[in-house]
Amino acid sequence: MSFLLTDKRILLGVSGGIAAYKAADWTRRLRKEGAVVTVMMTRAAQNFVTPLTFAALSGNRVHTAMFAPEDAEAMPHINLGRNCDMILLAPATANTIARLAQGLADDLTSAVILAAQAKVLVCPAMNSAMYQHPATQANLARLKEFGYTVIDPACGELACGDQGPGRLADWEIVRQEIIAVLTPQDLRGQKVLVTAGPTWEPLDPVRLLTNRSSGKMGYALAAAARRRGAQVVLVSGPGSITPPAGVEVLPVVSAQEMHAAVSQRGPEMDVMIMAAAVSDYRPARYEARKIKKGTPDAALALAANPDILRELGERKKTARCFPLLVGFAAESNDHLEEGRRKLAAKNLDLIAINDISAEDAGFAVDNNRVTLLDRNGAVEELPLLTKEEVAHRILNTILRLI
Ligand code: PMT
Repeated sequence: MSFLLTDKRILLGVSGGIAAYKAADWTRRLRKEGAVVTVMMTRAAQNFVTPLTFAALSGNRVHTAMFAPEDAEAMPHINLGRNCDMILLAPATANTIARLAQGLADDLTSAVILAAQAKVLVCPAMNSAMYQHPATQANLARLKEFGYTVIDPACGELACGDQGPGRLADWEIVRQEIIAVLTPQDLRGQKVLVTAGPTWEPLDPVRLLTNRSSGKMGYALAAAARRRGAQVVLVSGPGSITPPAGVEVLPVVSAQEMHAAVSQRGPEMDVMIMAAAVSDYRPARYEARKIKKGTPDAALALAANPDILRELGERKKTARCFPLLVGFAAESNDHLEEGRRKLAAKNLDLIAINDISAEDAGFAVDNNRVTLLDRNGAVEELPLLTKEEVAHRILNTILRLI
């Protein structure tokens, strides 16, 4: 279960297109993530999927009529939209889009949306020619003027055999939009710097010292902070993850480059989160040419890299005003003790301690299990969560400390 959607009340409006069957699957997925889903259907939608299907999948009564006798005093056309955190219209057909654009209220779905104060997310799905018709495009533009979020349909083969735009958008894109709509903008006005990924310490043109960090944890933090309204700078070691939209990325390779980037941008920040796995050492000497195989026992001389976080912690001791400092600790034993030691030694406000001995958490996987330890001694042990969720939990704690 994702805590991002837990107990969020989502009103799903289903209109009459073949993609209605996908909305049935989305109902299941939303519930699995902890959301409370209530479904309303247009009459046309009931030709594709029955209300019974949605009732079974949502665990809630399905609303199909404005004047249902069993609902008369509940005024569903007003109260459904009032008692939800957001409305998701999927699929949104050309007809339903046109009715909303005109402000009609002649069926339950259009009346509820007209009367609602909640955010509305519209997922068009229809034949390409219908979608591209100037009338539909003008109607969609009107919905955007009303403040509704419209998620562009995907391109591809449609149920009618045509190719082009009109397929219901992919679930992952819609899920991200739902989370964006439901996420509070509680970091608006904050400048957050995040470091992510490994560093590469070259030995010669083909060899280097590095570690198993993928950057997933740092990128998840950057994405979550951005989603919550922060202005985010991501100092990223080498990796292959696509950076989150709206984040300023500063690519670096070595620990020394990361040190330079963090030192340069640090002073303007409100919060610094150091999730990167920085190499503590680099080869003492860089050979400009590939080192040839020589004696069987070769030794490698190492030089210490700057400890970026420790240096920031030192500067914080004498600064009148300094960003909130958050570190990570990758530990394979004595986690809490080591975390406490690093929190004090590096003068941090918060540290996230990773158990890197576990195979299901830590380096390069999608999940993490961390213990949060703050400067006041508070300890919070988090269960195994996705890195996205860990990121939000860390940001919640940061907000409490700011
Ligand atoms: O990138 P992923 O695959 O998603 O994996 C995530 C992660 C396991 C890398 C991440 O969650 C994590 O634990 N990052 C910190 C790893 C680490 O270097 O831990 P450390 O205990 O060695 O360092 C403690 C802190 O000092 C860290 O915040 C680190 O960024 C910082 N540090 C360390 C060494 C150094 N020379 N300079 C630093 O700033």
